Amino acid sequence: MPMSRVFDIIEKEQNRQDKTIELIASENFVSENVRRALASCLTNKYSEGYPTHRYSGHKGRYYGGCQYVDELEEYCCDMWRKVFDTDYHVNVQAHSGSSANLAAYMAVLQPGDTILSMRLSDGGHLTHGSPVNIVGKLFHVVNYDLTADGYIDYADIEKKIRDRKPALVLAGASAYSRIIDFAAIRASIEKNSDETYRPYFMADMAHIAGLVAGHEHPSPFGIADIVTTTTHKTLRGARGGLIFCRKELAGKIDSGIFPCCQGGALQHAVAGKAVTAEEACTPEYREYIRQVVRNSKAMCSEFVRLGYHIVTGGTDNHLFVIDLSETHPHLTGKRVQDTLDQHDITVNKNCVPFEKRSPVETSGIRIGTAAMTTKGYKEADFVAVAQRIDAIIRTME
Ligand SMILES: Cc1ncc(COP(=O)(O)O)c(C=O)c1O
Repeated sequence: MPMSRVFDIIEKEQNRQDKTIELIASENFVSENVRRALASCLTNKYSEGYPTHRYSGHKGRYYGGCQYVDELEEYCCDMWRKVFDTDYHVNVQAHSGSSANLAAYMAVLQPGDTILSMRLSDGGHLTHGSPVNIVGKLFHVVNYDLTADGYIDYADIEKKIRDRKPALVLAGASAYSRIIDFAAIRASIEKNSDETYRPYFMADMAHIAGLVAGHEHPSPFGIADIVTTTTHKTLRGARGGLIFCRKELAGKIDSGIFPCCQGGALQHAVAGKAVTAEEACTPEYREYIRQVVRNSKAMCSEFVRLGYHIVTGGTDNHLFVIDLSETHPHLTGKRVQDTLDQHDITVNKNCVPFEKRSPVETSGIRIGTAAMTTKGYKEADFVAVAQRIDAIIRTME
């Protein structure tokens, strides 16, 4: 068989990944075992439906020959419950974080219902209800505000639960560097609920899931009704999504994925997620996550020392956002991203709270430490990278 052109392209991408300093907060490098699982024969198998023993009420698969993928999917579910030390129901079939979120909304909401969430430009995700995303087109979205210094305004969440009566309150973010107080949001929901009104509480922990697994961030389990995540960011695993929920929502959540939003499960991805879960249970992974947070704090402090404005002034997790709007008003996030690219440093432009530029230009960049910590970087390495980025930005003055 002739060699496919695709492998030349893959080799070029491998070289890029080998030589660049990867600071995109949502990226990571997976293990050989995860890659083996993803490249396995499981990609050949159709498996619409769920394993027969599932307690959500779904009755088996729509195809024969599923005995081994049934075993795999059950094992994957068990392992993820172990990672988060929870008895929640889990669905491991979501193809991505976006699919997980859409399926979760479809499971418990009706089109037109109100979702209360963080706005995209404040650090939320497209699937939290941006008008350009299907979620914003299907549902009515109300956003809670940030305080003047960029923290989640919990008083505003409580006020909007009381005044706007959302059907679902969503906690979670793509670019928020502080602890999310799930318990405070639950308390506001309880305070404003009665027998006629009780919103669902959903936590999208896509970014911080690895920190939750490693006890470096408070857990939403036991507090949120539904928890969604990706598996490829701080969890350092196969690309994909997961949905956890209280057992009484299991049937709705499973139907939200299949048949509502997806067809056949990607069992090679389920296998990759199962390996990811095995790895996330190890002491080595726990130590890795602690190092990710130590590195993030060290790098962030160096940027502060160098005179940069960090949204909220610092970080509690694996990422932070540099707001250039006051210190470097002539620079856009896009220009900085493009210039750093030329120096083999990969970051992404990011909106900042109260953003005045478009999402294409932006006034900020987001920086994360999960990927380079996997490559063995420690605090001193990240401090050195901060100094290098500063030197490059100075040439742009
Ligand atoms: C908070 C959050 N939720 C959901 C997603 C969507 O994940 P995916 O890109 O896998 O669809 C992301 C991705 O960045 C995210 O940050």
